[in-house]
Amino acid sequence: MKNLISSFSYLDYKTNLLTLNNIPLNELIKDVDTPFFLYLPKRFEQNYLALKNSLSKYLPNFQIFYAVKANYLGKILLDAKKLGLGLEVMSLFEILLARRAKYSFNNLIFNGPAKTELELTTYLKENSNARINVESLNELVLIERIAKKMKIKPKVTVRIHPNLSKETEKRMLIKKSSKLGIDYERAKKLFSFAKDSDFLEPVGVHVHVGTNLSSHEFFDELFDFMNSYIESLRKIDIQIKEVNLGGGLAPPNVLIRENFSLYRFAEQIVTKFENYKDILFLFEPGRYLIADSFIALTKILQTKKSWGRKWAFVDIGANSLVPLRYSIYSVIPLFFKGKGQYCNLGGPLCLPVDIITKEAVDFMVENDDLLAVLNCGAYTLSMSEQFGYPRPPVYELNEKGKLKLIKPSDDIERMVEENFSNLE
Ligand SMILES: Cc1ncc(COP(=O)(O)O)c(C=O)c1O
Repeated sequence: MKNLISSFSYLDYKTNLLTLNNIPLNELIKDVDTPFFLYLPKRFEQNYLALKNSLSKYLPNFQIFYAVKANYLGKILLDAKKLGLGLEVMSLFEILLARRAKYSFNNLIFNGPAKTELELTTYLKENSNARINVESLNELVLIERIAKKMKIKPKVTVRIHPNLSKETEKRMLIKKSSKLGIDYERAKKLFSFAKDSDFLEPVGVHVHVGTNLSSHEFFDELFDFMNSYIESLRKIDIQIKEVNLGGGLAPPNVLIRENFSLYRFAEQIVTKFENYKDILFLFEPGRYLIADSFIALTKILQTKKSWGRKWAFVDIGANSLVPLRYSIYSVIPLFFKGKGQYCNLGGPLCLPVDIITKEAVDFMVENDDLLAVLNCGAYTLSMSEQFGYPRPPVYELNEKGKLKLIKPSDDIERMVEENFSNLE
């Protein structure tokens, strides 16, 4: 456990009590009922600054966009804006969130394989210069039609699927067979179409094939391909001004564990891209920025033994802690009572997939013990659902070191009533 929390700089154990920024966590949360999420804005800022400072050491031109889909809580969007981040959005809902948070649409990127006319028009009305990533010829035709009607010339970037070695492809979340992106050869038709249009400006190439990435070798391979691809576009008279390297970085504790250096990452870019000084590099991190800026606080409701295994059931479930392939939640106790029998942790849902961590924990657990779930800020709230239970509230740890409610829990009475709407 000591090993685990050593890569979460804000956590420690003092006389067996878990501390957050040196304050015992049980003290900090004593007035709030579990389950709830705790947002740590300072951590979000630190993660952003670590990335920004590493990139600025090597890259003359870059911009970072927070991937809203990772966690779209209003307070995070406002914090991101204050820090100078742009946003990567994927739907009308996320466009409206960006508008509500008063972002300049100059600082937005719109992704997605099937954007509607309503979404595109709403987006472009906010700013005709806002970036759009496209991945089909039909979509380009639609954007051109909208642009012609609006008498504008939007910037388009083509999202490609790169040519990677067989071994690398196998490890990627987004493979050649995936619905996302377009194969790099076919993509050339999209570039040419945009170049020949009076209403489109092809500016860039975009790539996003994985998440939880922490391998320098992978990025060497990707950047080699991207550099040669840009060269091949130049030969057909397409000048790439922007390279969008997508999101995909693993959370800080995974980067530390895997000896991944953000400085080296930035250095790899300048080493591999011959014309890096003439390129604006764009990044769309989600998981890296927000995963460890959240902790979920939960209580053990029940324990049992079955077939030689010990189980403990906590009051937060897979409807909030969504069990995705890349989820890497870790659980530690607020009060460490010593080592105990290996124990599997499940949520309260009557569903076998409602498991909190893939590995059993080895500390002593009993009913009513409080636990902290780490690395749970990405793809949890934004993907959560009301499966039998209301979604928990979110508090933030504010500058004064106090908890402040920033999103209430779902109202259980309302959840009931909504299902009886318009019946009488
Ligand atoms: C186009 C695009 N950019 C960025 C991201 C963010 O990825 P991550 O959270 O792994 O950084 C995603 C996630 O699905 C994405 O689809």
